[in-house]
Amino acid sequence: MAGGSGTRLWPLSRSGFPKQFLVLSGDDSLFQQATRRLMGLAAADIHVQAPLVVGNAEHRFMALEQLREIRVEPAAVVLEPSGRNTAPALTLAALAAEDTDPVLVVSPADQTVADGPAFTAALQQAVRAAAQGAIVILGVTPDRPETGYGYIRSTASASGPAQVAQFVEKPDLATAQRYLAEGCYTWNSGMFVLRASVWLQALAQFRPDIAAATRAAWAVRATDARFIRPGLAEFNAVPAESVDYAVMERCPGSAFDIRMVPLAAGWNDLGAWDAVWQATNRDAQGNSATGDVIQQDCRNTLVHATSRLVTTLGTADVVVVETPDAVLVADRERSQDVKKIVQRLQAEG
Ligand code: GDD
Ligand code: MG
Repeated sequence: MAGGSGTRLWPLSRSGFPKQFLVLSGDDSLFQQATRRLMGLAAADIHVQAPLVVGNAEHRFMALEQLREIRVEPAAVVLEPSGRNTAPALTLAALAAEDTDPVLVVSPADQTVADGPAFTAALQQAVRAAAQGAIVILGVTPDRPETGYGYIRSTASASGPAQVAQFVEKPDLATAQRYLAEGCYTWNSGMFVLRASVWLQALAQFRPDIAAATRAAWAVRATDARFIRPGLAEFNAVPAESVDYAVMERCPGSAFDIRMVPLAAGWNDLGAWDAVWQATNRDAQGNSATGDVIQQDCRNTLVHATSRLVTTLGTADVVVVETPDAVLVADRERSQDVKKIVQRLQAEG
């Protein structure tokens, strides 16, 4: 799923160049890292087929070029004329795979995972359960009351992975604090493993409107050598909703077998600058620098320079992101609120 907009990483992440295509750590973009991670499962005796990429039509050449750089030939790149969120995106992938009904490893394109072997071990377990019909969510142990994630309460099962008893998408702060204190919740990593047919059945049950509208757009798709384009007007009419709200929250207690496999693999969702700071190499004073940067007597400061020398002096807990046409200077703790600046920019044109 490579069609998000990543507004909280402004000014580096732009609508024309959203965060999944940015190189934020290491040599590869987040999209390339996610693709390599999934293709790497082949080494673990999982029969991996070429990836299905679902993303925005505007970014098609960027996606293709980044795949070429890592020598991955996609099975298809499905192009959305507009972002309708992840439930329609996953439905397009499931429809593209409907004939052979494989297990789909559904992955965001904007995360980092430090421990490859631990990722592989979790996926082996998840794929096994999904092959038998389960909906499997990879869960991460929380370390803070993050309100931007989904929370999963699960109970041990005698057969296979833990059973999901409750799924709550993006709780308010008081609820997230309670979940953290109770200790029996994991975060939803945003990675799901399930058969294409199981997704289509669950969506048809819980959100028949999204299922029917996405099928209508798929039915009139145009296909060329590389790209599949669902019908423009039809897809733009699909109700926008995430996988989490459309299906996952409604699954516990239903006939669907929903399971959680723990992912203890140094997972990081690079949602905002604070998370980028956490995930990058920092010096002894906690400073992180990318590009042409000098930091003097600074602490816990992230500087990302793209076109000029950037220097900081005596700062603590600050984020500075420099691009040719826009510069952000922010309190690191306020990283989530960068989207407020983007909203103002959009409103004020
Ligand atoms: N193709 C496509 N189309 N992809 C999309 C779209 C879309 O319209 N919208 C988002 N995506 C992609 C993003 O690029 C990202 O890789 C992934 O889907 C998840 O979308 P986000 O917008 O980043 O979701 P979120 O961060 O609010 O929440 C999700 O992820 C959290 C963990 O990072 C949820 O699944 C939460 O429950 C979860 O905790
Ligand atoms: Mg996200």
